[in-house]
Amino acid sequence: MAGRSAIGLDIGTSGVRAAELSFGKGRVTLEKFGQVALPDGAVRDGEVVSADAVAAAIKQLWTHTKFSSKKVVIGVANQKVIVRQVDLPWMPGNELKKSLAFQVSDLIPMPVEAAVLDFHPLEERTGESGARLVRGLLVAASRDMVNTNLAAVLKAGLTPVMVDLTSFAVIRSVAAFDDLGVGAPVEALVDVGARITNIIVHQGGVPKFVRILLMGGQDITDAVAERMGVPQEEAEAMKQRLSAEPADGFGAQAADRVVDATMAAFVDEVRGSLDYYLASSGSAPIARLTLTGGGARLSRLADRLRVATRIPVEPGNPMHSLTLGKTGLSPEQIAFVQPLAAVPVGLALGAAS
Ligand SMILES: Nc1ncnc2c1ncn2[C@@H]1O[C@H](COP(=O)(O)OP(=O)(O)OP(=O)(O)O)[C@@H](O)[C@H]1O
Ligand SMILES: [Mg+2]
Repeated sequence: MAGRSAIGLDIGTSGVRAAELSFGKGRVTLEKFGQVALPDGAVRDGEVVSADAVAAAIKQLWTHTKFSSKKVVIGVANQKVIVRQVDLPWMPGNELKKSLAFQVSDLIPMPVEAAVLDFHPLEERTGESGARLVRGLLVAASRDMVNTNLAAVLKAGLTPVMVDLTSFAVIRSVAAFDDLGVGAPVEALVDVGARITNIIVHQGGVPKFVRILLMGGQDITDAVAERMGVPQEEAEAMKQRLSAEPADGFGAQAADRVVDATMAAFVDEVRGSLDYYLASSGSAPIARLTLTGGGARLSRLADRLRVATRIPVEPGNPMHSLTLGKTGLSPEQIAFVQPLAAVPVGLALGAAS
């Protein structure tokens, strides 16, 4: 095979999914994509709770999809990862990385020894006292949490080669790189999962703001289940039916109102995050909002976000720059998995850089 390949593995609340890409001759090919559902409670709020259940699902995924390797890039997104804009004293790149733990110990809500740290410089600035500073995004993830998620991957017999922030994966796969560069428009990316929503603002692929929101489609299902007094599975089916067809009948209309009210709270959170970004100094207006994740399938969500934020909303397409290989998936299946492929495709793309 010419060139290299990489596999991104996304461990979501509702399932594990992976994408294999091959890199060669100026193009990237989607070779394989597959997913396997997880039982309830195996992953909670972005953290693996049952390593056995997750490992079993990953093994099944590898058996079914016949990936060419066991090396994977995994993502993390949960409340034990924080992403924050910080100003640090300027120093050459290497020195900054080396002294990062020392520089940021007062800036993160966990002991530095217990954290995996990363820093993404954005721009140079001059501090009030004239000091040379570098502003950037600091990522701090709990080492224990990362190790717990890694343990499930190891248990499945795979070899993790890299751990990345899920939000950065979404940028790689979904950002419209046709408008790269200094004059590129600022774009918001919102990946709506079952329990986790990644909100990212970037310009030309460079992250400006990241928020990991502990909310998603499952919260809407929970509200329907509770208010309508039906089991989870039925509430999920009702919600999905309402996404496909207008509410018909008394029960469906009542469920629709519950969906609406819960969605409004979610939309408020997203708008609040974007307002926070916009209020920070030197931020440019957001030209568009791109939606991915299974939760983005909820009907009216795109409309609601557009009305609340006054930003045009578009579906994200992680396949836009990929050549499709012999994935074994029909065009309909590809279209169906598209919103779910943003994270695994982006994770695999990270292995190329
Ligand atoms: N047709 C649909 N209409 C409405 N919601 C849908 C539809 N299909 C899927 N969803 C919702 O998408 C959510 C799952 O999205 P996704 O698969 O991206 O999450 P995940 O990656 O497993 O979870 P997380 O990222 O939160 O850990 C569920 O809440 C599900 O109800
Ligand atoms: Mg997800």
